[in-house]
Amino acid sequence: MDLYEFQAKQLFAKHGVKTQSGEVVATAAAAKLAAEKFGGLVVVKAQVKAGGRGKAGGVKLAKDPQEAHDRAADILKLNIKGLQVNKVLITPAEDIAKEFYVSFLLDRSNRSFLAMASVEGGVEIEEVAVNNPDALAKVPISANVGVTKEIAIQIAQAAKFPAEIQDQVVEMLQAMWKVFVAEDATLVEVNPLVQTPAGQIIALDGKVSLDENAGFRHPEHADLVDKDTEDPLEAAAKAKDLNYVKLAGEVGIIGNGAGLVMSTLDVVAYAGEEFGGMKPANFLDIGGGASAEVMANGLGIILSDAAVRSVFVNVFGGITACDAVANGIVQAIELLNQQGKEITVPLVVRLDGNNADAGRKILNDAEIAGIHMAQTMDEGARLVAQLAAGK
Ligand SMILES: Nc1ncnc2c1ncn2[C@@H]1O[C@H](COP(=O)(O)OP(=O)(O)OP(=O)(O)O)[C@@H](O)[C@H]1O
Ligand SMILES: [Mg+2]
Repeated sequence: MDLYEFQAKQLFAKHGVKTQSGEVVATAAAAKLAAEKFGGLVVVKAQVKAGGRGKAGGVKLAKDPQEAHDRAADILKLNIKGLQVNKVLITPAEDIAKEFYVSFLLDRSNRSFLAMASVEGGVEIEEVAVNNPDALAKVPISANVGVTKEIAIQIAQAAKFPAEIQDQVVEMLQAMWKVFVAEDATLVEVNPLVQTPAGQIIALDGKVSLDENAGFRHPEHADLVDKDTEDPLEAAAKAKDLNYVKLAGEVGIIGNGAGLVMSTLDVVAYAGEEFGGMKPANFLDIGGGASAEVMANGLGIILSDAAVRSVFVNVFGGITACDAVANGIVQAIELLNQQGKEITVPLVVRLDGNNADAGRKILNDAEIAGIHMAQTMDEGARLVAQLAAGK
């Protein structure tokens, strides 16, 4: 889960990363009040989960409360990279002598953690990485050792931070690592880390991504979920522990195994081209040992999506054989009927693998209206796209 800047800064404050105070507001009037509280020059910053806010006009200086009001009004109208700005952060303006970059991240390809640092901060770090790679220091971090003082010094020196600020940078790096470990983050990034004319080092921006797999260790992270922008179907699926992602199309998809479901999305989108561009409405992986209840929960979520016009259940029987899955589908439909949720869209089912014939027989014998059997994934994809198009 990616956090907003103001949430990242809350975690920074909790773990001793020097950052600024600030107030998050949702209206221009509240922005004015916040600016009055801070007094003097303030910065109004769009709170969206996207980079490049400054370039998009989402970060503006305001010399007095009225200007903070006006800038906030402008910024709250912005849409940055497809994301509507609903909140702005009001924070005192800092005098900046120099801007740096520092981050810790999970480096999946090297199965370790990575520190990145550069004295070329402020700008987009991707550009530095491409145009001036030597200016971006990369130091692998061992999970067993972490960021000790020695390693923090190594990072600061690799990035050629000026000697006079090294102690502060080292302290900053260790505090950022504390955030990374204590909060189970996969990214903790500060861009820019600034040096003030008085020589202070402060995190002016913050990006944190939390590892949702570690969510069970952090009940408090539930408060960081933005209920306003969360998709209601995804929220309902999450409450039922389903691996569901809402997509923009018309064909509901259920499969077992993430790889199978992803290829099903491709095959359905491809088949859908022939029928006026029918596309998958969701990703839903019900996993290996899908019970009738899980199948019912999954079908329930998909059928409550008003955009769905047909559903493709694509299952490859493995450890859970197809007859068990077929029984699951039959029971799931009974369960849904009991809950008053009639299946009103056609269902295409493709069963293959372990005990496929027995599975197909169960579904055929059940004689449920609206169920179509497909022999292959391609055939099923074509049929489900055709049904979605109403042809
Ligand atoms: N409190 C502040 N005082 C003075 N200048 C600021 C302050 N906050 C941000 N700035 C200036 O605005 C620039 C952009 O701000 P920031 O880094 O927070 O957003 P961004 O880089 O555009 O967004 P992102 O990091 O998401 O791409 C900074 O590099 C800095 O020069
Ligand atoms: Mg930034």
